[in-house]
Amino acid sequence: MRKDTLSFSCVGLGLLFMVAGCGPSLAPSKPLSELSPQEVQGRAVYQQDCASCHYANKTGDLHGPSLFAMYRKKYLPSGAPANDDRVTQVIVRGRGMMPGCGNQLDNQQLQALLAYLHTL
Ligand code: HEC
Repeated sequence: MRKDTLSFSCVGLGLLFMVAGCGPSLAPSKPLSELSPQEVQGRAVYQQDCASCHYANKTGDLHGPSLFAMYRKKYLPSGAPANDDRVTQVIVRGRGMMPGCGNQLDNQQLQALLAYLHTL
């Protein structure tokens, strides 16, 4: 009996998240209060190096496309697969109007940034 009640409330919670989210298919990002220390560090990197051009918590373009739910989609806006290899390449080398940040970030900051982007 307890099990039934539990799974029922989980479904309820899931529905609530969907209603609160930005679209029918995308749940909200991981709440800030649940970020790991590495993800928190990555968020600081995002705020310093990416936030001026990219939204993280809503859809729509700023100077570049929104990073919201980036890894939860199969492809990046360019059509390249949304994986760490590709995203690292974009961050380090830049792309089109986006300048590369390779010289400003050490590997630890880069890994933290990727970890944060995975929470979006
Ligand atoms: C000066 C503005 C600017 C900054 C700063 C910037 N970007 Fe971008 N970004 C852009 C623009 C413009 C594009 C679109 C480039 C294109 O496709 O021609 C883009 C594209 C992207 C893409 C999509 C690539 C693809 O293949 O579709 C990702 C992912 C991305 N940026 C991540 C980041 C991250 C992470 C940072 C911080 C380290 C960052 N950007 C900093 C302007 C910026």
